[in-house]
Amino acid sequence: MTDQLTVATADDNAAGAAGPTPWWRDAVIYQIYPRSFADSDGDGIGDLPGIRSRLPYLQELGIDAVWLSPFYASPQADAGYDVSDYRTVDPMFGTLDDARELITDAHALGLRVIVDLVPNHSSDQHEWFRRAIAEGPGSPARDRYHFRPGKGADGAEPPNDWQSLFGGPAWTRTTDPDGTPGDWYLHLFAPEQPDFNWEHPAVADEFRTILRFWLDLGADGFRIDVAHGLCKAEGLPDAGDASELHLLDVAVSPCFDQDGVHEIYRSWRQILDEYPGERIAVAEAWAPTLERLSKYVRPDELHQSFNFSYLGAAWTVEAQRRIIDESLVAMRSVGAPPTWTLSNHDVVRHTTRLMGSVSGDAAGRRPTAADPVAGLRRARAATLLMLALPGSAYLYQGEELGLPEVIDLPPEVRQDPAFHRATGQDGYRDGCRVPLPWSGDAAPYGFGPEGGPSWLPQPDSWAQLSVAAQDGVPESTLEMYRSALLMRRALPALGAPDNLTWLEAPEGLLVFERAAADGSAFRCTVNLTDAPIAVAKPGQALLASGPVDDAAAQVLIPADTTVWWSVA
Ligand code: GLC
Repeated sequence: MTDQLTVATADDNAAGAAGPTPWWRDAVIYQIYPRSFADSDGDGIGDLPGIRSRLPYLQELGIDAVWLSPFYASPQADAGYDVSDYRTVDPMFGTLDDARELITDAHALGLRVIVDLVPNHSSDQHEWFRRAIAEGPGSPARDRYHFRPGKGADGAEPPNDWQSLFGGPAWTRTTDPDGTPGDWYLHLFAPEQPDFNWEHPAVADEFRTILRFWLDLGADGFRIDVAHGLCKAEGLPDAGDASELHLLDVAVSPCFDQDGVHEIYRSWRQILDEYPGERIAVAEAWAPTLERLSKYVRPDELHQSFNFSYLGAAWTVEAQRRIIDESLVAMRSVGAPPTWTLSNHDVVRHTTRLMGSVSGDAAGRRPTAADPVAGLRRARAATLLMLALPGSAYLYQGEELGLPEVIDLPPEVRQDPAFHRATGQDGYRDGCRVPLPWSGDAAPYGFGPEGGPSWLPQPDSWAQLSVAAQDGVPESTLEMYRSALLMRRALPALGAPDNLTWLEAPEGLLVFERAAADGSAFRCTVNLTDAPIAVAKPGQALLASGPVDDAAAQVLIPADTTVWWSVA
């Protein structure tokens, strides 16, 4: 075992009689999408050495940990979420030594590193699946995936009615070694992503050793991809009405959220607990209710779960307050920290989504318009609201720059595997994956060497959004994030204490307070309307997402603006 992190955090220093708060209970975790973060070798695709070179930026930002989307060997049918070898780094991203050095450097800067684990499915180029295809029907190699004969005459119909989340049937027919049409295999995502059969002991064993491999290399934890998908209902029954699968409104479905997953996570928790330094796992689980979601984070299972209900909540007082309350209640019932997130690599960036400028379901799918000024104002307000809540927060790379969704990528550059499948869950995920602008006046804006390519084109307007353009500019979004993250660490009322009290407020304003053990109190006021709202000045303004004049006893909170206050 290597690289146990020993850096003291603000929480450790504030330890009470019960001992220090584990780091993850209020951590701010920053998602890096490796192909779009920083490109060291000029091939237009970000890589591990690129990330390594930017670690000081992340330390200065004030985050606690990074979560890296997959960088393993992969044919990239789904941007690395189709893994062909779980223990190597794809040459596109670097080498295993690069991964080791990245973890070591991050630890030296006080940053933890969480890696992505993709246990629901492999790539169709994974050795196990290639063998399953080569060895043909009835071979034991097929038992590690879900192969079934088709229905109807000649087995020409899929074995059941399940639909892929990327569009079309969740089954693809194979061709037998003798060239005739054969059995079908299950893939809840792209055909290049066959689902593992988690009933098979070899699958469970394999993933336990993969966990240990990365823990031994120094990883501080895992983000568990499609954590709700590993177990399927016995006999793979038809889904019936639930066959229109959309992650957020997933009803009771035979493909998802089956009770069997919890046994898997209990065994993983034991492994994580064997290692020093509070190694963690966070579930990407889309459960139908927060109550179902809380089961993934019971004390002997995973540590955290993403809160997609919060991500999808409307920008209204009622919706925000309801989802915050429900999240706190659900997580308290199992003693897990709530988590909050506004953006990730699968959804429309919140700068665009919160303006309602998307069509589709609640998570925001196809972006249809963007008002950059109003969108940014609302996104900044939402961020300060999120960072004032109890528990842990997840940031997605580039949100600290206020990047909008890129809505006008030409079809020929898009790579989302669902893009060309009309009935898929979205297909517009490239718009939040455009490489980051670091500096300079022209693309690739320091993402890679000057004049070099970037795998998706960056908009001309991004020169003014680059890190260099915002660095040191007090009203910039980057400086707002830096100040907020610094304050989260410094103010005892923020972060881990599990309390939040709503205060009465004029219509359209959300107001809550949080108290610390040392008697200090913190107040957050959020105007969720498009007109200013007057309030009696509650204390000293600490930070605001927009310009606020707090000189007089009455203060006008501008439209779509959050203000943090210290109250006596
Ligand atoms: C998760 C990932 C998404 C990927 C899918 C299949 O939802 O976040 O990017 O396409 O799993 O692995």
